Amino acid sequence: MTIAETTVFEALESNVRGYCRSWPTVFDTASGAWLTDENGKEFLDFFAGAGTLNYGHNNPVFKKALVDYIMADGITHALDMSTVAKRRLLETMRDLVFVPRGLDYKVQFPGPTGANAVEAALKLARKVTGRTTVLNFTNAFHGMTLGALSVTGNAAKRAGAGVPLVHATPMPYDGYLDEPEDFSWMRRALDDSSSGLDKPAAVIVETVQGEGGVNVARAEWLRALAELCSARGILLIVDDVQMGCGRTGGFFSFEVAGITPDIVCLSKSISGYGLPMALVLMRRELDQWAPGEHNGTFRGNNAAFVTAEVA
Ligand SMILES: Cc1ncc(COP(=O)(O)O)c(C=O)c1O
Repeated sequence: MTIAETTVFEALESNVRGYCRSWPTVFDTASGAWLTDENGKEFLDFFAGAGTLNYGHNNPVFKKALVDYIMADGITHALDMSTVAKRRLLETMRDLVFVPRGLDYKVQFPGPTGANAVEAALKLARKVTGRTTVLNFTNAFHGMTLGALSVTGNAAKRAGAGVPLVHATPMPYDGYLDEPEDFSWMRRALDDSSSGLDKPAAVIVETVQGEGGVNVARAEWLRALAELCSARGILLIVDDVQMGCGRTGGFFSFEVAGITPDIVCLSKSISGYGLPMALVLMRRELDQWAPGEHNGTFRGNNAAFVTAEVA
């Protein structure tokens, strides 16, 4: 590695860069669990794209499907136009994911990041309920855009917003201190008019907090939360951006708890190949979007649909 090569990042890339400071080398190729830098040194990749590379780097099965698709001039960019690749992905989701689990979800393609899926989920919950407040949990991480930051429980990240982050109320994540079925503290906050807590539109939760320190909520705790939400008419959003796609066992991380969230956010490993893609799944009757009400240029990353279908 020459000095010029190392310093071009320092000279030109913004100070916001982060992970490259932890791993000060210049990576070049990758295969499976191994990264190789430009000097040929190999590194075993425990990071796996922060949960994005469930199947390793450049998995040959997905790579072949992708290369075949590109060489056949398969459409790459399509906004939210209908394409063969999207149809095949939707049919695969229906047949392999929804039907076997008895789920009647509709699928939204938001912009291709986890944060965008979270933004869409929050917007939809507010639209459907006509309410504004969202309950979130301590140590949660939901992304870096303003809405997603407002439900993120990380003071340093929140400080970067530069504006007050409002309409979110933090609650304690499962700390294994209380009886899991005892959400009496939350009931009290909801029932006591002097608490100042408006009836929430939704609760947003990670079943296992990833960025927040790998904290695992008990299945009983998740069940009690889901029951409380259902009894109160509060929508339950599970942010499965990091823990979904089989990372905790089943395809969805909430399956083990036997709950059915109203809205689910997926991203990271959903494309299987590290290509940007995100989905919002919603119970059919919650699909109250007007056409184009949440849109974005890169909702139709068809290359990602191709690898997602194979995954
Ligand atoms: C649970 C969870 N939600 C949302 C996000 C945000 O995803 P993205 O970085 O793609 O915006 C992350 C990212 O780590 C995450 O772990």
